[in-house]
Amino acid sequence: MLASRAVDAETLLDRARAAREHAYAPYSDFAVGAALLAEDGRVFTGVNVENRSFGLSLCAERAAVAAAVAAGSRRFRAIAVVTATSPPAAPCGLCRETLAEFCGPELAIHLAGLDGGRRDFRLGELFPEPFVFPREAPAPGRR
Ligand code: THU
Repeated sequence: MLASRAVDAETLLDRARAAREHAYAPYSDFAVGAALLAEDGRVFTGVNVENRSFGLSLCAERAAVAAAVAAGSRRFRAIAVVTATSPPAAPCGLCRETLAEFCGPELAIHLAGLDGGRRDFRLGELFPEPFVFPREAPAPGRR
């Protein structure tokens, strides 16, 4: 397997851009693509999946996390998110909380817009005070 180091920000953004083509966003017309880089080098993509009952809509970032977890991957280095906005949109609060479930403040967040706009953050910058469940964090691999 390729070393995860081989997947740089631009490569990850390319994966998010390609995934975005499959976004299901007929209500907002706001397509989002995400690509999540696991520590072992695997990349998991996600898109937003909207619903006629608007509150059920799923964000691209959380779809990518779900795909990764379903494949047995829970440790991540970076996530790339592509939107059509300028400047490129950052993950919503729900997605930040979801990323914080699996990632520390060092998670790299690469954002790109279709016009070439770019922004980079660490999760700790966008979500500095995650909720801490008042019990010991589950050991890796625990259900
Ligand atoms: N959306 C995402 O996919 N990720 C975010 O972080 C924020 C918003 C989606 C949800 C909805 O389908 C559309 O963008 C407009 O809110």
